This record gives sequence, structure tokens and C-alpha cells, in this order.
Amino acid sequence: MRQLACITSLFVLFVIGVYANTEKVIFLAPAAINLPETLKNLQLDVLTLSAFSLRKSLPVSFPTEEQPQGEESWYLLRTLKDGQRYEVRICWAAIQPTNFEIDVFDVDRVLNIPQLVERIPLGQHQHQTLDVAPIDQAESILFLRVWSAAAFFTTNKTLMQSPPPVDVDIILDPYLANVFPKSLLPTAAYIICLAVSSWYASGIIWKVLSPTAAAGEKVHKD
Ligand SMILES: *[C@@H]1O[C@H](CO)[C@@H](O)[C@H](O)[C@H]1NC(C)=O
Repeated sequence: MRQLACITSLFVLFVIGVYANTEKVIFLAPAAINLPETLKNLQLDVLTLSAFSLRKSLPVSFPTEEQPQGEESWYLLRTLKDGQRYEVRICWAAIQPTNFEIDVFDVDRVLNIPQLVERIPLGQHQHQTLDVAPIDQAESILFLRVWSAAAFFTTNKTLMQSPPPVDVDIILDPYLANVFPKSLLPTAAYIICLAVSSWYASGIIWKVLSPTAAAGEKVHKD
């Protein structure tokens, strides 16, 4: 009975723990490049290593034949390090069911695919200005595209016709030694601490219990 209660409470903990969803893309930063004049006038939100997190309220729509992936938004990843591995994560609350699709494109790819370059907002919108230097010299730079499609069903017609925007965090995370995401370091440290301390704890518990064990053995021998 007690076991059952334990399992149930563990399960409840687990269910409460899962409150957010994540979608991510992993990539290597490209070589530094001079941005061509046509792309100089970008008015995109920027993610850099110092401003690595962006909180946005993203418009969503239900998938249609013309736009099967929903609404599109573009960002700029700057001050990357050539050859370094990064990931970009998008996190959102599970109470706002959404399908995200994220891709990165280097400058060449954007320039060579007219359908892409057409869709990047060039100086149309005045986004929040981030404290980043203008792009004057060669820089390792990538475009980030996010598709967001609503993924829920409700009998409420208002919500089905105009799904509310979804609050997201977009996070740029470098990998340490190209192997391990930097932001997961505290979690890894926690797990290692837990493993080491349980090793010692088990030693102590064994010592505490072993006189009884030894006594028990003695009784057996006699
Ligand atoms: C439908 O959802 C909207 C937005 O959340 C809400 O204002 C409205 O009261 C809902 N309508 C019904 C019939 O529940």
C-alpha cells in the first residue's frame, strides 16, 4: 500500500514537473562574412552571446494549405564563433499547445534562395533595439526562422478563429568544447553532486548497518 502511495506521488511530481515544451536546432557557426548591402538594413531582433535570451509573444495560426507551418518570424544570430557548436531553443508553456519549427540559414543560402530573402523583414518593422553594434565588419552570422502553428482544438469559435499569441523564450546556447550545452552545466553539476554524495551516504549507511549485519552473521555461525 505504501509502495503504491509512493509511486503515485512520484508520478504526480513528474506530471507537475512537465510544464514546458522545448524545440531546438543544433548547428555549427559559419565562417565570418561581410554582410552585403542588400541585407544591411535589417530590423530583426538579435540574439548574441551576451543577449542570449529573448522573450516574445509570437503570433500563431492554424495550419492551412498555403501556410502549413503557421506564422513565420525571423531573428538574427550575431557575434558567433566560427566553427563553434550552438543550439537555439524555443520554450513555451504546455498550456499553449503549439507546433514550432526552427531553422538556421547562413547569409549565402538566404541570398541564393529568393523565396527566403523575400520573406525577411528588411527595415519594415521597428523592433526593440538591442544594444548591439552595427554590422560593419566580417562577422559569423546566421538567420533564424521560426514557424509557429497553433495545435489545439476547442469548441470556442473565437479561439479557433484567432488563436492567441504564444509566449516563448528563444535562447542561444553555446556548447562547451562543442559537446555539452553551457546552460545545462548547473544540472550536470547537480547530478554529479547527487551521485558523489549518495556514494558517501551509502558508505556511511553501510557502516551503521554492518555491526548488526556482523552480529546477525555471528548468530548464524553459532
Ligand atoms: C471564448 O474564448 C474567449 C477568449 O478566451 C473568451 O473571451 C470567451 O468568453 C469564450 N467564449 C465562450 C463561449 O466560452
